Amino acid sequence: MINISAPIITEKDIKDISEVLRSGMIAGGPKVSELEKEFASYCGTEYAIAVNSGTAALHCALYALGVKKNDEVITTPFTFVATANPILMQNAKIVFADIDEDTFCIDPKEVEAHITPATKALLPVSLYGRPFDQSLQEIAKTNNLKILDDAAQSIGAKVENNMAGNLADISAFSLYATKNIMCGEGGMLTTNDPDLNELCRRFRHHGQSEQTQYEYADIGYNYRMTDILAALALNQIKTVEEITEKRNENAKKLSQGLEKIEGITVPSIEANTRHAFHQFTIRVMPEFKLNRDELKSHLQEHGIGSGIYYPKPLHLHPHFKNLGYKEGDFPVAERVAKEVLSLPVHPSLSPEDIEKIIETIKNI
Ligand SMILES: Cc1ncc(COP(=O)(O)O)c(C=O)c1O
Repeated sequence: MINISAPIITEKDIKDISEVLRSGMIAGGPKVSELEKEFASYCGTEYAIAVNSGTAALHCALYALGVKKNDEVITTPFTFVATANPILMQNAKIVFADIDEDTFCIDPKEVEAHITPATKALLPVSLYGRPFDQSLQEIAKTNNLKILDDAAQSIGAKVENNMAGNLADISAFSLYATKNIMCGEGGMLTTNDPDLNELCRRFRHHGQSEQTQYEYADIGYNYRMTDILAALALNQIKTVEEITEKRNENAKKLSQGLEKIEGITVPSIEANTRHAFHQFTIRVMPEFKLNRDELKSHLQEHGIGSGIYYPKPLHLHPHFKNLGYKEGDFPVAERVAKEVLSLPVHPSLSPEDIEKIIETIKNI
């Protein structure tokens, strides 16, 4: 079976985790600090703050940006639910804006159309590892808004020489097991702003600053990472360049093999951008012989795993029904959700695996 994702765990990971266990220091300690330094250095930011999930990272970031009751945060309906839930955790209002069908990311024109005096922040998602549309920077500046990049899927991506993590006021990464680099469960924030750094550090630590324990200025959570997992993430961050290059190589081969097939649209990439290819996501259009779900089943029968990220936009789920949205509100997201199929692109694929994926689709 060619799986859609395959975590890479080395003997060194096992040794390094064992060393942490033997050290007796198993909560947050030197490994977390070392990981934060490596992560900030890789992303080219002043600060990185480790937390215990990508969701926690998003929550910390919204808190640090001052998002609170009655504030509006503009985001995409075509994402994982964890992008939107932290907005609700801050009692703020989710405002969805439709996506661009070529990038799968939020459409800047749609964002502009949804800005009101209550808008506090923009929350684009660098979906599948493709950096969000950088023209949002200008829109944010003109409207005096901050950008939080949901970079859960985009470690290793870059625009010109700016790495993901350094494309917004603050960025939130996930280190969940299936991500390009991971530690099972974990997250990371990056920023250049000392105030945002301090507020995130406090929020992850019950509202206490790292300098003054048992002083509680404001609410906080326990969102800290442990040294056990930091040891794994530390080894992973050192491999991210190699992994990203390999994912790009695999994506290039898949695109070359599939782009001429009628009814299959391969991912678009801009010349100044490096995609992280967390997912290689094709669109299965009406001109193709099978519909998306039939293609998925066909691949499964031939030993090829694939994934649908995401089958239904957020605004159509009961959880968000009290926002007042209905079918037809975000036509691009609704259509694309019926067309997308992610194929394996991970670095452990062999050339034969890639050939098999291409040939299986071609033969249809
Ligand atoms: C786009 C997006 N946002 C947020 C998250 C949440 O990350 P985590 O699962 O680490 O909480 C994920 C990952 O699952 C994600 O893919």
